[in-house]
Amino acid sequence: MQRWIRPATLQDLPALLRIERACFDDAWNEQSLAAELATGDHHRAWLCQEQWPGQPAEVVGSLLAWRLYEQCEINRVATLPALRGQGIGRLLMAVCLEQCAAEGATQALLEVRADNDAALALYRACQFEPTGRRKRYYRDGGDAVVMTRAL
Ligand SMILES: CC(C)(COP(=O)(O)OP(=O)(O)OC[C@H]1O[C@@H](n2cnc3c(N)ncnc32)[C@H](O)[C@@H]1OP(=O)(O)O)[C@@H](O)C(=O)NCCC(=O)NCCS
Repeated sequence: MQRWIRPATLQDLPALLRIERACFDDAWNEQSLAAELATGDHHRAWLCQEQWPGQPAEVVGSLLAWRLYEQCEINRVATLPALRGQGIGRLLMAVCLEQCAAEGATQALLEVRADNDAALALYRACQFEPTGRRKRYYRDGGDAVVMTRAL
């Protein structure tokens, strides 16, 4: 089996929508995702693909970020439920951070639900540290943890 990360384009919108719907209760709609795939500005998007011998390649994970001047902001990272715990999230994060650093970013930042243990663990594994908390940040009243790391 081969697994690789590549930048996403507008042609990947259906695949990205599938990942969103499989991974998030508050999945972004087609219009919002299309905006994230727009080229030429601060949006950055990557997909993880997998291919087994004799099978077509499949999109199994995604990451959406913004690179704003010296800052890389991670907005969304997702791995299909059946394939979690295999390093896909870590791989997506590594490519995003490396690419944004190559473009001149010196700091990475994200917000994560305080009760999202898997995401908190992934970000810690990627050397992010909690640097703040936003009370009742989410619509359902949940808090967000702000995490940052230097690049
Ligand atoms: C968060 C998410 C992207 C992690 O993806 P993943 O591909 O399973 O992550 P990885 O396999 O690369 O795990 C990387 C590290 O994170 C940690 N981790 C991931 N899932 C974990 C879990 N459920 N419990 C504890 N630690 C976990 C592990 O420490 C792992 O390090 P290790 O390889 O040394 O064990 C995935 O759970 C997901 O898609 N969740 C739903 C969407 C979401 O909430 N996204 C984050 C907010 S945008």
